[in-house]
Amino acid sequence: MNLLPAPAKRWLRRMANLPRYGPLGLHDPQQFVEVWLEGCGAPRDVTRNNVVAALRPFTIGVMLEAASAEASAGADLRLAMRQRGSGFLLGVIHLRLASTIPLGALRFCLFETPKCENHCVPAATLRLYYQRQRWRSWQRQRKNPYNFRMTLSDIRCSYVFYQCPRPVVLVSVQHEGSSNMFPMDLIGPTDSPCFSMALRSTSPAVRLMQQSRRMALASAPFTYKDTAYELGRHHKLASIDWTSLPFPTEPSPEFGLPVPEAALRVREVKVEEFHEVGSHVLFLTSVVRDTVPATARELQLFHSFSSYRQYLAMTGRTA
Ligand SMILES: Cc1cc2nc3c(=O)[nH]c(=O)nc-3n(C[C@H](O)[C@H](O)[C@H](O)COP(=O)(O)O)c2cc1C
Repeated sequence: MNLLPAPAKRWLRRMANLPRYGPLGLHDPQQFVEVWLEGCGAPRDVTRNNVVAALRPFTIGVMLEAASAEASAGADLRLAMRQRGSGFLLGVIHLRLASTIPLGALRFCLFETPKCENHCVPAATLRLYYQRQRWRSWQRQRKNPYNFRMTLSDIRCSYVFYQCPRPVVLVSVQHEGSSNMFPMDLIGPTDSPCFSMALRSTSPAVRLMQQSRRMALASAPFTYKDTAYELGRHHKLASIDWTSLPFPTEPSPEFGLPVPEAALRVREVKVEEFHEVGSHVLFLTSVVRDTVPATARELQLFHSFSSYRQYLAMTGRTA
């Protein structure tokens, strides 16, 4: 039963200052959090080189040279999230090399995440939050025993991963009679021409991406927040009715795939290879054309962990 109106609930949540995921408006690339790979030689800035490859098990991909990949095999590797400027340590994800994908002289290293440390939320709040998470997970499992489920340890690692804001794109794809547009945030560049995308293997769009081998990724403006979440349901559809979209589209410059007119950037990518990684199919793509409209000045939609007040306080911004 809903006893409170939505604005009152929002206010209460803000006051409670619970750690949680949330949308954030930023310019891309974000400038607030740095991600460092530590524990094997000199620390390496991988802020633009760490992406999710699968959610179950939670798997993070980092592109390394072959020698560094080899050295990382037995090392006590960590991904450290640090506030830019102060260097304040927000969190740490411990890494265990699970496999590598050879790409010429490079290796796309896939790390599983045995444990993490979260320093951006007080320990007592975090304990409460974890308890609530356990309860919700148990409820969800009881309602639908076949539902997709991450382990609690992996969920905690994903909170730390999202301490670094991650951009959300709307992906357009079509093949023969089927087409779709859906939001993705398990995406990102690497220290190479390779741009990574991870899509749940049960998603019907996987087949469209494997067969057409090309997609358009439109960076969503922050004003598309509600729409982007709404389009999450497209992940389960084999094809969509384009006339039902609540915004106008235009053909992308290279492939002619429909993208939002309001897109802040359109990356048109070609699938180079794809791999099954746990729950997801990992697409390694190359950017064929990258278009940034001269008028694109708006804030972009990002996903981030922790409450806004904590996050904004940490980054020295005001709400
Ligand atoms: C903003 C947003 C970004 C998403 N990004 C991804 C993604 O990168 N990869 C993926 O497999 N699913 C992604 N999803 C899909 C969700 O994980 C989920 O499968 C989908 O929204 C259906 O939700 P439900 O299973 O709770 O009904 C995204 C969904 C939303 C709303």
